[in-house]
Amino acid sequence: MQNIFLNGEYLPINQARISVFDRGFTFGDGVYEVFLVYHRKIFRLQEHLERLNNSLSAIYMDNPYSDSQWQELLIKLVMDSPADNQSLYLQITRGVSERDHAIDIAEKPTVFAMSKPLPEHDFSSGIKAIVADDIRWQLCYIKATTLLASVILRHQASLAGAKEAILVKDDSVTEGAASNVFIVIDGVVKTPPKDGRILPGITRDLVVELLNESGVVCQESNITRDELYVAEEIWVTSSTWEIVPVVMLDDTRVGDGRPGQYWERARDIYRQFKEAQRQS
Ligand SMILES: Cc1ncc(COP(=O)(O)O)c(C=O)c1O
Repeated sequence: MQNIFLNGEYLPINQARISVFDRGFTFGDGVYEVFLVYHRKIFRLQEHLERLNNSLSAIYMDNPYSDSQWQELLIKLVMDSPADNQSLYLQITRGVSERDHAIDIAEKPTVFAMSKPLPEHDFSSGIKAIVADDIRWQLCYIKATTLLASVILRHQASLAGAKEAILVKDDSVTEGAASNVFIVIDGVVKTPPKDGRILPGITRDLVVELLNESGVVCQESNITRDELYVAEEIWVTSSTWEIVPVVMLDDTRVGDGRPGQYWERARDIYRQFKEAQRQS
C-alpha cells in the first residue's frame, strides 16, 4: 500500500488518524492544492506553491514549510507511487481546537498529502454543461476546502446529465464549479479576469500565456450571460481535465455541437508545452 504524508510522517492510509476536533472537519477551515504529475515530474510546481501561499495568507495562516521543503516532501510521495502519471493532493487545515470560531486557539496546522494514479478520461468529443447562479462566497480566489456550494452545483449538473456547471454572478460568467471558463466569440478567445471572483487556475493562466505567445488573441475580460449563449466555442480548464470543449450548454448546442478549431489549437499548444516540459 502506498504511503500518505500526515504531519511529518509517511504512513499507510489505514494508519492515518485525524482528530474529530480538527478544524478542517468542524469548520472546513483549510486550504488545498491539486498538482498533476507527468512522468514523475510535478507540473507547474512553483505556480501551485505560490497559489498555496496566497491561499494561506488570505486565511491568516503561516505556511508550515518552505518551497524546498514542500518540493522534497511531494517528490517523496511521487517516487513512492507505482504510477508515472499522478494526481497529488495536499491539504492544510488550521489544526485542532475546541469548537470555537476564534482562530488563535488552534494548535499546530494539520498537513496532509497523498498521491493517486492520474484517472483516465477522454472528454475530447466534448461535454455538456449547465448554466447556474454562482451561489458561492466572495473569496473564490482562495483554494479553500469549504466546497459545499461547488459540490451542490456539480450535483445539479449531474442531475441534468451534464459534467460541469458554468456559473454566473450579476450577469457575468465567473467560472465552472471546479474549472475556469473560456469562450470564443467573433473569433476572439475570452476568459473572465482574475478579479477575486474566480480561482486563479494554473491551467487557465498557462492557456492564456500559451495562446498569446502563439499569436492567438486571448482577452481577460468580462463575459456576459448573453455572450455565453451565443459563443462559437466554450471550453473549461482545470489541472485534472486540462482543456475540455463544452458542446452542449443546457439544451442548446454550442456552435455546431462539435469541438471547435480554436479548442483544437489550444489543445495542441498545451500538449506541445507538456511534451517540452517532459524533455527538459
Ligand atoms: C473553482 C475552481 N476554478 C478553477 C479550477 C481550475 O484550477 P487549476 O487549473 O489550478 O486546476 C478549479 C480546480 O479545482 C476550481 O475548483
